[in-house]
Amino acid sequence: MNINLQNNLKNKKILLGITGSIAAYKSPLLVRELIKMGAEVKVVITPSAQHFVTPITLASVSKNNVVSDMFDLSGQNEGAWHIHLAHWCDLAIIAPCSATTLGKFANGIADNALIAVFMAIPKNIPIVIAPAMDTTMFEFPATQNNIQTLQSFGFSILPPDSGELASGLTGPGRLPDVNVITNHIAQVLANGIDIHSVNINQNERLNQLINSPLEPLDQAVEKGKFQAELELEQMKNSLIDNELSKYFKDKKVLITAGPTIERIDPVRYISNFSSGKMGYAIAEVAKKYAKEVLLVSGKVNLNPPDKVKFIEIESADELNQAVQSNYEDYDIIIMAAAVADYKLANPFPQKHKHSENNLQLDLVPTVDILGSLGSKKNENQILIGFALETENAIDNAKLKLKKKNLDLIITNIYDDNNQVFGSDLNEVVLLDKSFNESHIEKSSKSKISIEILKKIANLK
Ligand code: CTP
Repeated sequence: MNINLQNNLKNKKILLGITGSIAAYKSPLLVRELIKMGAEVKVVITPSAQHFVTPITLASVSKNNVVSDMFDLSGQNEGAWHIHLAHWCDLAIIAPCSATTLGKFANGIADNALIAVFMAIPKNIPIVIAPAMDTTMFEFPATQNNIQTLQSFGFSILPPDSGELASGLTGPGRLPDVNVITNHIAQVLANGIDIHSVNINQNERLNQLINSPLEPLDQAVEKGKFQAELELEQMKNSLIDNELSKYFKDKKVLITAGPTIERIDPVRYISNFSSGKMGYAIAEVAKKYAKEVLLVSGKVNLNPPDKVKFIEIESADELNQAVQSNYEDYDIIIMAAAVADYKLANPFPQKHKHSENNLQLDLVPTVDILGSLGSKKNENQILIGFALETENAIDNAKLKLKKKNLDLIITNIYDDNNQVFGSDLNEVVLLDKSFNESHIEKSSKSKISIEILKKIANLK
C-alpha cells in the first residue's frame, strides 16, 4: 500500500464485524494490520464466528472488549450500547461476511449483536462488506440479490478472491488477502464511497466471478484455511512472546529439577523415576525471557540448557543447601524436583554385605525445602511447587498450596496409563492462591512450560 493511503488509517476508528465464515481465522491478522497502521479497532462478532476465532484472541489483538452477546450485561453500562458503538466508528466493515449475515443485513433482521450494531450506523459512516463463502453459496441467487440490495444502500462490496476454498472446490468466495482489505478500507476512507462508479466496477467484477467456471479440485487441500491458521498461530506466539518478555525481563528464576538420590551405601541408593524433563523444559523456555535462570538439578540424562546457571546435586540435603544459599537472589522459585521424602539416618560407610537376615533401614524425613521457603519468602517472591498425587489430586494440592504458602501449585495428572515420568508429554492442573484452576491438556512439556510462565505473569 502506498504511504499516503496507509496514512489514511492513522487515528481512524474502525468497527470490524466478523461472521461465521471459515475465513474468520484471518480476522486477528486484519485487526493487527489495522492497528499497525495507527487505527483503533473494535470488534463485534456473531455467535457462529466464535467457532472459527475466539473473542479472547480478538480482544488481546485489538486491546478492546469484543462484543459478542447482544444481552451481555457488562456492555450495558452506557445504555443503548449498540448505538454508542455504531456512532463511535469512522468506518465499519464486515469481513468475512457470510451468506447468512448478507441475508440478515439486507433484510434488516437484527437478531444478533453484529446486525444490531451495523443497522445503527449513521448514514455518513461508510460501510464495507467483504463476502466470503463457498462458490456455490456465493452464486446462489438470494446471495447475489442480497449483495445488490446492500450495494443499493450505498455500501461498498469488496468482491471475494477466486481460489481454493475450504471445501476443496476452487472458485470465487475466498476472503481477499489482508493487505487488499486494508487497502480497500484506506481508499474508502480517502475517497468515500462513490456509489455510482464503485458499483459499476464492482458489478463487473462480481459478474466475472459468477460466470467463471467452477472447477473441482483434485486434492481437497484446505490451503487458505491452513495458511490463515499458520499465520494466526505465529501471531499468537508473538503476542505471547511480548507478554512474557515484558514480565520476565527483570526477573531472576530459580528452577529445581530431577530426582534426588539418597545413599544406602557407596553403591546403592533410594531414588525415584523423575527424568528432570519438566524442570529442564521450564528452564529452556524461561531463559528466553528472564534476566537470569538458575537450574539446580539432580542427576539426569539431559544436557543443561545453554545460558543457564547450573548446579548439580545428588541428595535432598545437597539440593536444600544449593537452594537455601541462592533463593534470596531470585524473584521466582519453581520447585520441580522430585525430592525424596526420606533418607537413611545412617548410610553404611562401606558396601553392605549380603546376608540371610532381613535388613531394616532406618529412614528419617528429609527437610521440606518448599515448606521452609514458603515460611520465609519475601512478599515479592513467587514460590511454585509441584504435586504428584495418586488420589484426591486437587483437594490435596489445595491443602499443600495453603500449608506451604505457595503462589501456585502444578499438579501432575496421574493415572496408570498416563506416564508422567520420562515422557515428553504431560497433563497438569494449575491452581493459584484463589484456587482458580486451569487445566492444561496433554501436551509437550515445553508447551506446558509456556502455559506455566503465562500463568506466573498473570498471578495477582
Ligand atoms: N518438596 C520439597 N522438599 C521435600 C519434598 C518435596 O521441596 N523434601 C517439593 C517438591 O519439589 C514439590 C513439592 O514439594 O515441588 C511436592 O512434593 P510432593 O512429594 O508431591 O509432596 P510432599 O510435600 O512431599 O507431600 P506428600 O508426599 O505427603 O504428598
